[in-house]
Amino acid sequence: MSEREGSKGYRGDACGIVIFGASGDLTHRKLIPALYSLSLQGLLPNQFAVVGFARTPMEESEFRQKSYDAIRPESEKEWESFSQHLHYFPGDFRKKEDYQQLGEFLLAKGSGHSWCDNILFYLATPPSAYPTIIENLKDSGLSGRMRETRGWTRIIIEKPFGRDLNTASALNYLADQAFEEKQIFRIDHYLGKETVQNILAFRFANGIFEPLWNRQFIDHVQITVAEGIGIEGRGAYYEEAGALRDMVQNHLLQLLALVAMEPPIALDADAIRDEKIRVWKSIRPIAPDQVNQFTVRGQYRRSFFKGNEVKGYREEEKVDPHSVIETYVAVKFFIDNWRWEGLPFYLRTGKRLPKRVSEIAIQFKRVPHLLFRRVSDHRQEPNLLVLRIQPDEGISLKFEAKRPGPGIELKSETLNVHFDGASGVRKDSAYERLLLDAMRGDQTLFTRRDGIEAAWGLIDPIIEGWKKEPANDFPNYKAESWGPSLADDLMKRDDRHWRVL
Ligand code: BG6
Repeated sequence: MSEREGSKGYRGDACGIVIFGASGDLTHRKLIPALYSLSLQGLLPNQFAVVGFARTPMEESEFRQKSYDAIRPESEKEWESFSQHLHYFPGDFRKKEDYQQLGEFLLAKGSGHSWCDNILFYLATPPSAYPTIIENLKDSGLSGRMRETRGWTRIIIEKPFGRDLNTASALNYLADQAFEEKQIFRIDHYLGKETVQNILAFRFANGIFEPLWNRQFIDHVQITVAEGIGIEGRGAYYEEAGALRDMVQNHLLQLLALVAMEPPIALDADAIRDEKIRVWKSIRPIAPDQVNQFTVRGQYRRSFFKGNEVKGYREEEKVDPHSVIETYVAVKFFIDNWRWEGLPFYLRTGKRLPKRVSEIAIQFKRVPHLLFRRVSDHRQEPNLLVLRIQPDEGISLKFEAKRPGPGIELKSETLNVHFDGASGVRKDSAYERLLLDAMRGDQTLFTRRDGIEAAWGLIDPIIEGWKKEPANDFPNYKAESWGPSLADDLMKRDDRHWRVL
């Protein structure tokens, strides 16, 4: 987010993008379609190349065909010109010699082209491969090679970045040996979502909300990221992760930080990231012996979803039939700082919930005196501001008004703004935005080293507490329900309830 440029002149630098894990799911589901869409919008530089790197033996033509199948482009002409930029290098990420050859391949393909000066590596492999790839990039000189030229070298590292604080720190250390921090882009695709970025604009480009944005006027905040899908064939990954690592450590904590941060001193990457990190550092860690008080875990059971019988988590492919991995989490956090002291932030996320919906609900306090109680039967509600992330992107504000007619009868009204359509921004453009930013060297929407570690620092004690007391009620929620009943109890204990979505 450059202050000077705004959205004008938003185009990536000429570069070659080397994707490790090029035969995998992420590459074909997200990365190639995102690059193609950028190309259609004229946002890619004229000089660019994509080099797929994977073990699967494949000809360049096959790689292009796979990419074609993933995109199903409408225009053959557009596709023809885009596909000329796609190349494939069959290599084994564990073999050092393959990196030497990759370097030669880049030089040969790039000879006479300026894209060869700038190389963006993208780690889209299973996370267990990250350390080996980073070490091999360093040892082969590829991570630093371009520094000697007038160009740049950067690396995008997919989530999950580590599986706890120790492994994340170790990975940070390794990455730090091979690259400088300004070359490292730790991706969290939630930050690429338009509505997520809009939280900053909403809070800091308007004068009327900020004075109310604190413990004095707000009762609590609810952050929901619900999904209707199950684990979609990702059993092996999910058994290692679970909802806490998969969603809370990154996406939900990012949303929380954007809601709770102080105004940054500028719109540059470090100023924004400094403020977010301050939030994470101010969150009161949940001690292992407090997990039952502040967290709830759930796992979906075999049941019906939209009329069809769906498997329980334990029956999914590559999942242990006795697995205690959670597919639902609710957490209550407190932020120990001047602005938020004593105000709970409730976070929940889960698979196989009734629908796909992500939102942040800011529940304001009741008015101090219920003046209309005697004259109106209507139950007066406190104001509620909802920032809707997906799918119905927008903002709504609930307030009380007088019902037209004689007497004074109140009713609740909602002011509603839909961003969709008005913004003209395509849905699912998060990867486009983030790829483009990495090509431009803008780290604002990427997580800094200390940010990743601060977030894991909050997750580790919860994992430790859960390990000490493995869940004995799993599976404990039905598909198409809002999670285990314990999640409702978490709210009821505070005399509150989850929003019905
Ligand atoms: C990913 C998780 O990071 O985010 C998935 O690994 C999850 O488990 C996905 O389904 C949700 O992303 P979105 O953009 O569909 O909300």
